[in-house]
Amino acid sequence: MEEPILTLENVNKKIGKHHIIKDLSFDVYPGEVFGFLGPNGAGKTTTIRMIVGLTNVTSGEIKINGSSISKDYKKAIENVGAIVENPELYPYLSARKNLIHFGRMSKNVTEEDIQQRLELVGLDHVKDKKVKRFSLGMKQRLGIAQAMIHNPKILILDEPTNGLDPAGIRQMRDYLRGVAKKENIAILVSSHVLSEMELMCDRFAIIKEGKLVQVEDVSNESNEEVVSSYRMEVNEVEKAKVFIEEQLDTTVEIQDGMLKVQVSKEGIGKMVSSLTRNDIIIYQVIREKQTLEDRFLQATSQEVS
Ligand SMILES: Nc1ncnc2c1ncn2[C@@H]1O[C@H](COP(=O)(O)OP(=O)(O)OP(=O)(O)O)[C@@H](O)[C@H]1O
Ligand SMILES: [Mg+2]
Repeated sequence: MEEPILTLENVNKKIGKHHIIKDLSFDVYPGEVFGFLGPNGAGKTTTIRMIVGLTNVTSGEIKINGSSISKDYKKAIENVGAIVENPELYPYLSARKNLIHFGRMSKNVTEEDIQQRLELVGLDHVKDKKVKRFSLGMKQRLGIAQAMIHNPKILILDEPTNGLDPAGIRQMRDYLRGVAKKENIAILVSSHVLSEMELMCDRFAIIKEGKLVQVEDVSNESNEEVVSSYRMEVNEVEKAKVFIEEQLDTTVEIQDGMLKVQVSKEGIGKMVSSLTRNDIIIYQVIREKQTLEDRFLQATSQEVS
């Protein structure tokens, strides 16, 4: 397995009497978009500020590309591109001039690098326009180009879709995914907008009150062994129920005239073929996908507002 680019090991943060981050540990790998989720006040921004060295770690360790952010800051931070609050841009300079300016702060940034970044974030056609005439979405993209100017191995974005319209969110999602896959860089994005994260991320961590609740893959249901809920429409509901319970040893509920079972992907395959062999006609099988929102609310036990 590839080495993680970012590692948090039992990270704690205390400010005064407040224990804000509690024993937080997770890893982020090259090429993945990693979602960092949690309700307002959960500690996402605080964690990100520690990762980029804007505030210190009370205890525990954060390593970027193997270097500790507290012991070897310079080496660790070389690998990071980040937008923590709003991107800092010069309004009276064009997009391209902004990137030239930021490029000067790091070594070996060529004119081609700048052009390539502009193309990557889709700003090539407006590169000579002054940033003060940019929309919010255009500024966000330029911020990403800026954060990536020195070829970081990990990009860290706190709520990158804040304030974007649906089209902007979609574009952001597409190019962040594109960047991760094309350049094999890791992207850590925080958000509390779950529907977005579900489409954007490969894996995600959920935190609540500064504690990690869970880390998992967005698409874990493709796994053969994972049990999901299925609804099935058949010609003879009662007969099918008895058959499944007696022959297949699976509990069946009947809901709105449909069978409801909890089985694995492999299990549903077997169930369908044995029902068919026993002359029960199946009209449809529906997997009830548990959305990220369901999992998030379950994990953080919040009421749906
Ligand atoms: N400088 C500080 N002093 C004291 N408490 C703080 C400080 N900064 C943040 N906190 C507290 O730490 C907790 C986590 O805040 P943080 O901003 O990290 O949450 P968040 O997950 O980013 O929330 P949001 O979704 O609203 O951005 C909150 O309870 C907040 O009040
Ligand atoms: Mg925040």
